Amino acid sequence: MAANQTPVVCPPHVLIFPLPLQGPVNCMLKLAELFCLKNVQVTFLNTDHIQQRLRSCTDNVNYFKKYPNFRFETVPDGLPEENPRTGDQIPNLLNSLEAVAVPIFRKMVSSGGMYGPDSDKPITCIISDGIFTFATDIAKEIGIQLLYFDTISPCGLWSYMCLPKLIQAGELPFKVQAQSLFWFRFDDNLDEIIRNAPGMEGIIRRRDLPSFCRTKDLNARIIQLVLKEDKHIPLAQGLIFNTFQQLEAPVLSQFRNICPKIYAVGPIHSHLKARLAEQISPTTSNSIWKEDKSCIPWLDFQPSKSVIYVSIGSLAIMTKEQLFEIWHGLVNSGSRFLWVRRPGSVLGSEKDFEVPLELSQGTKERGCIVSWAPQEEVLAHPAIGGFFTHNGWNSTLESIVEGKPMICWPYFVDQQVNSRYVGEVWKLGLDMKDTCDRVIVEKIIRELMELRKDEFLERADQMSGLAKASVSEGGSSFQDFDRLIEDIKLMKI
Ligand code: UDX
Repeated sequence: MAANQTPVVCPPHVLIFPLPLQGPVNCMLKLAELFCLKNVQVTFLNTDHIQQRLRSCTDNVNYFKKYPNFRFETVPDGLPEENPRTGDQIPNLLNSLEAVAVPIFRKMVSSGGMYGPDSDKPITCIISDGIFTFATDIAKEIGIQLLYFDTISPCGLWSYMCLPKLIQAGELPFKVQAQSLFWFRFDDNLDEIIRNAPGMEGIIRRRDLPSFCRTKDLNARIIQLVLKEDKHIPLAQGLIFNTFQQLEAPVLSQFRNICPKIYAVGPIHSHLKARLAEQISPTTSNSIWKEDKSCIPWLDFQPSKSVIYVSIGSLAIMTKEQLFEIWHGLVNSGSRFLWVRRPGSVLGSEKDFEVPLELSQGTKERGCIVSWAPQEEVLAHPAIGGFFTHNGWNSTLESIVEGKPMICWPYFVDQQVNSRYVGEVWKLGLDMKDTCDRVIVEKIIRELMELRKDEFLERADQMSGLAKASVSEGGSSFQDFDRLIEDIKLMKI
């Protein structure tokens, strides 16, 4: 809006720009559909790479055609097609997005652009991942509002926000203490409780901080990215979170101190299901790998709560040694298991992973392995009694909603914090961070699936009830979403 123009209220038109990875895209597409149900115009900005994979693995592009107020737009992500979009590639992905996608995005929403203020469908609000710090400048340039939606956990994001204080207080895991001009000591007391994370007092230790905090190089790209994000998050007109009030009240109140408009609308997958149920219509998969549904009939033949589901999400990877430690632990535990072996999730060439015969003999009737599962359907299946997970935030919430206890084996970013909260605060499972030993794996599976099974199932069932209540009419997430819609409808350009 030019300085001398009077602001006008246009039909609400939200442009959603997710971090182009499976977890964030999955979550943001569910938010997009929730907006569609409220007749908000939505433009979803995917990368060509993600869009192509969605087309080849799901029917979701056709699915969204039922919403006349929804459209996909795509931009190149700037990476060679063959590049693996894995966790270690995130800084490169962000670099190439800034170089290639952002100029196209800026042109799209600026004056003269197809969704600019002078177009027939002007964008009235941008919703993007908080790591996209460019979004604050672009929203300001064109005079529209910006809502940040970090699809990681609020407790994880809050630990990011505390990073400057933690660095200043020397609380990062590898605190560098100058002993003399030439001699440094690294203090890696990982079990020391963190004191400079308000709202998390007495909860997280150094080892529970995000993986990138385990660094001796504060100039590392990821540290600099997070410090920059810390400065931009408070500049948004509002923050959207995929969580619910009863799960993370202390952390949400910390965020209210830096940004008054907070919308806790999660668990978003469950929220969407609840609102679609009113129309008796199903939702769609947003997987970027082909789901192998053969695991469902296999589960149908397993006793109730007898199977542990093993999956490390879309970005985590493990070494061959870790693979065999988990495999031995699973087999020796005697538990039935459904294991997702995502293509590219194990370092090294696929041929190395032939499981020793004596292990495979012992598992054919009680183990099922797929390359990618219909995870929400799997977690909802009565045969599943536990989830061996990396604690990606979508997976964690999906497990909470279905009342399935967790064994937490975090890989990176917010997962370390999530696994601490699951184990120590919400008491919904056991935290196995920083270990991968067959004896421990066997013991922890027996503890979750046998020895303390009833205790964990009872806790998980209680939290599941709170999660479902929050997205039902009158619930906190239901109300926050309706408030979000009202606020978006009042936005002017
Ligand atoms: C990433 C980060 O890892 C995570 O910590 C952050 O919170 C979001 O971005 P990802 O690793 O993919 O996400 O984990 P997660 O957040 O759990 O998302 C994975 C999604 O893929 C889930 O919605 C899950 O249901 C789905 N999935 C996973 C499948 O559909 N099938 C599978 O076999 C495995």
